[in-house]
Amino acid sequence: MGYGLLKGKRGIIFGALNEQSIAWKAAERCHEEGAAMVLSNTEVALRMGTLSALAEQTGSPVVAADATSFEDLTRVFEEGQRLLGGKIDFVLHSIGMSPNVRKNIPYEALNYGYLSKTLDISAVSFHKMLSAAHRTDALAPWASVVALTYIAAEKATIGYNDMADAKALLQSIARSFGLIYGKEKKVRINTVSQSPTMTTAGSGVSGMTRLLRVAEEMSPLGNADAEECAGYIVTLFSDLTRKVTMQNLYHDGGFSSTGMTLEALDMFDKVCD
Ligand code: NAI
Repeated sequence: MGYGLLKGKRGIIFGALNEQSIAWKAAERCHEEGAAMVLSNTEVALRMGTLSALAEQTGSPVVAADATSFEDLTRVFEEGQRLLGGKIDFVLHSIGMSPNVRKNIPYEALNYGYLSKTLDISAVSFHKMLSAAHRTDALAPWASVVALTYIAAEKATIGYNDMADAKALLQSIARSFGLIYGKEKKVRINTVSQSPTMTTAGSGVSGMTRLLRVAEEMSPLGNADAEECAGYIVTLFSDLTRKVTMQNLYHDGGFSSTGMTLEALDMFDKVCD
């Protein structure tokens, strides 16, 4: 059931690939809350994924864009305003990819060409997105921009590899742009630090199944799933959070503030016994 939290709002959602994607769940939830949206992903993702089903379900047009291309992103914001009939009230950056992770190259032996790609796709794309929106004056006053991140940006996490560096950069871009955009246009920019989630990107992280189990035991409320993340994102897109900006907001069942839990100790005991 929706609450009409995004009634009359226009948004752009980047990164829905398939039903598991966090962006997919976010688009469904935004639609339920009354928003009109444009969906965007790469040409390859549009061919390989099932985005057309989501587009049909939510009545959203699709504009293809490679998030590393400033020109593509500019087109999304120009087309987005035209298709939706006005300035944009919310943007979701739900994009991440590391060729080093994909090819199982360990952190101590990174391929630097791949590292550049990781940073370009997973972090610099956020700068380009905000810059393209800025140059096209696409965002409405009090618009809300959210990008997804992970705790490995702040705490060394085995297996997350160069995505940790990309997420640290992403979080910094959110703060730096938040300062400029807040002053100039009253636009707010935040990152949401989500629990490990079994999606296409998530399943690429080495040891993901074990990570999910341990995180579950280390989170007083348990891991947050993609639907729950979508609900949290909706609150950030709504008018109820207008003065929240430049924050990294944890949506992780309490994991980030937990040192140790009884359940996690029991897990270690079972292994040691
Ligand atoms: P996903 O695989 O469904 O989404 C990743 C998206 O990035 C895909 O739609 C893919 O097509 C898109 N993408 C890749 N390269 C692109 C490019 N050059 N241009 C435009 N789009 C491109 O996986 P998920 O998990 O929904 O990922 C969404 C975001 O959530 C990512 O930023 C990810 O790092 C973040 N996140 C995921 C967690 C997880 O455990 N799954 C935990 C915390 C954050």
